[in-house]
Amino acid sequence: MKRRHFVLGAAAAAAGAWALRPGDEGAPYEDYFARLNEELKQHGPMRPVMLVDLDLLDRNIELINRSMQVTRMPRGYRVVAKSVPSGKMIDYVMRRAGTRRLMAFHQPFLNEHARLYPQADILLGKPMPAGAAALFYRQHRGDFDPAHQLQWLVDTPERMSEYLALAQGQDLQMRINIEIDVGLHRGGVLPGSQLAAICDLIQANPDHLTFSGFMGYDPHVVKVPGLLASRSELLERAMRIYDAAVSQVRQDYPRLWNNGVGLTLNTAGSPTYKLHEGETLSNDIAVGSALVKPTDFDIDTLEQHRPAAFIATPVLKSTGEVEIPGLDEKSRLLSWWDVNQRRTYFIYGGYWKARLHAPGGLRHNSLYGRSTNQEMVTGSAATALGVNDHVFLRPTQSEFVFLQFGDLLAVRGGRIVESWPVFDQSQA
Ligand SMILES: Cc1ncc(COP(=O)(O)O)c(C=O)c1O
Repeated sequence: MKRRHFVLGAAAAAAGAWALRPGDEGAPYEDYFARLNEELKQHGPMRPVMLVDLDLLDRNIELINRSMQVTRMPRGYRVVAKSVPSGKMIDYVMRRAGTRRLMAFHQPFLNEHARLYPQADILLGKPMPAGAAALFYRQHRGDFDPAHQLQWLVDTPERMSEYLALAQGQDLQMRINIEIDVGLHRGGVLPGSQLAAICDLIQANPDHLTFSGFMGYDPHVVKVPGLLASRSELLERAMRIYDAAVSQVRQDYPRLWNNGVGLTLNTAGSPTYKLHEGETLSNDIAVGSALVKPTDFDIDTLEQHRPAAFIATPVLKSTGEVEIPGLDEKSRLLSWWDVNQRRTYFIYGGYWKARLHAPGGLRHNSLYGRSTNQEMVTGSAATALGVNDHVFLRPTQSEFVFLQFGDLLAVRGGRIVESWPVFDQSQA
């Protein structure tokens, strides 16, 4: 190669490499987080906390309520308790949404719901082992009347037999909602012989069992890649299965069907609830996560919802340019190359199921590694955090992450207004 070509090639390569250099992704807090940071520094506990913004929560509740009114048929909103696992938070949402309907997923929390909300109508979101159901009755106290207000979820004839034995043994009246597999393939029955076997047992034992409806959960409608099947196809298929189950009970078990009076025909979840505005079969829609919109729910069907829950945690140390043990002063090459490694912060706690959110452009450091104790995050100079300022993260989901911080802090207009205990984590 001629020398001139070599020099030109090297210059082009250097220019190309320079062009690959990461840009400055850092940004200071937006006003919203700047205000929250000041509030937390003055009135917060200066440890990791989960914030729930009531102004944004109200907006999200309003969106769900409006969706319930789109169809002309009466349709009720059921709060998915596991996704907002705090007694006071559930109470707030039920009051604001004007609903008594709850979906429960965990036996100890079910007892708690029955105690806290004696007027609630509770549908189980998963089939409990008969032993857990027995424990519920043993621990139950108060005015909540399970014979009229609780719907157990049954997914197989075998479980139906076990529940029947429990009901006979303890002289209980149990309301039975049947789980249908509408395409998620997480259990439940299809219309046909399995459904008939369950209905036969209910019909033969009216002193102990009452049919209360169906549950068909369908997040796959949104989650399955479009290449495999379109959303409208999957929803149509799901509702066809649902409709077949309804028709079977209506025709073959008219006494159980009872003209549909008082039956709960539950479906949906956060990803799909908007899609059900177009159908008229279901009368009960379960939604939880969309109330606070964790990052797993950044999906087009929830475009109008706003994130309403943030982890806030103080910066414990601000140590300048990134330094990796072993690389020591050679680490400077990293911050020279990448402006987003020119400020290093160690935060209180870390490694939650969450994404860094504010200030902008903060990152984890894969060379340094993750920590649940004092996690390193880096950013550019524009992030401008000092010790005691807060880093804000968005949880990826709410049901487990909400239980990790003690009381939720409810904020309104940028001020802490209430403290909401979460359900006992040791029972989660
Ligand atoms: C039976 C059932 N219904 C509804 C939901 C929806 O919950 P979310 O709205 O929090 O996604 C779930 C979530 O797991 C579920 O299992």
